[in-house]
Amino acid sequence: MLTIKDKTFVPFIAADTIQNRVQELASQISRDYADRQPLIIGVLNGAVVFTADLLKCIDIPCEVTFIRVASYASTTSTGHLKQILGLNESIEGRHVLIVEDIVDTGLTMADICEQFQAANPASMALVTLLYKPSALQKDLHLDYVGFEIENRFVLGYGLDYDGLGRNTKDILVLAD
Ligand code: XMP
Ligand code: MG
Repeated sequence: MLTIKDKTFVPFIAADTIQNRVQELASQISRDYADRQPLIIGVLNGAVVFTADLLKCIDIPCEVTFIRVASYASTTSTGHLKQILGLNESIEGRHVLIVEDIVDTGLTMADICEQFQAANPASMALVTLLYKPSALQKDLHLDYVGFEIENRFVLGYGLDYDGLGRNTKDILVLAD
């Protein structure tokens, strides 16, 4: 159990279960991308732990970099376009794997995809450790999913509550 500020979190996914699943995803990615030297793009801050663990288990040549997304007021039809910060590499002609900690409404992933697609990657696939199907508001195809979870607030293994709690090996869930 973990208390942060006014909230109590209880165990949800144990560290060894996470590590086993990360290894499975990495093996699958290693097979699927054996000849493609993928560019793995982790979305900070939440995906930092997952991306690092995944990377250690991928056993084919690959590159890694990180981006951050910042919300900004937009007058586009979606109204939610986010700014992508920190990408110095060209993704044109690259096999890109975007790595997220969690897909909740899917708005963040959909925004990133839309902007990356415009830069003409050779291929683009989405990797997320956690996925809340019942919260999804976008038509997103997720290629590699660690765990489908119910629509509850989770923390740990990179995920935070108000900036805290990223540094746990287990994933915890907000107590009822
Ligand atoms: P969506 O898919 O809604 O997700 O665009 C946006 C970002 O919100 C964060 N998020 C969470 N963070 N526990 C967290 O610690 C959660 O249950 C949770 N749900 C969403 C996450 O940073 C995601 O990238
Ligand atoms: Mg995130």
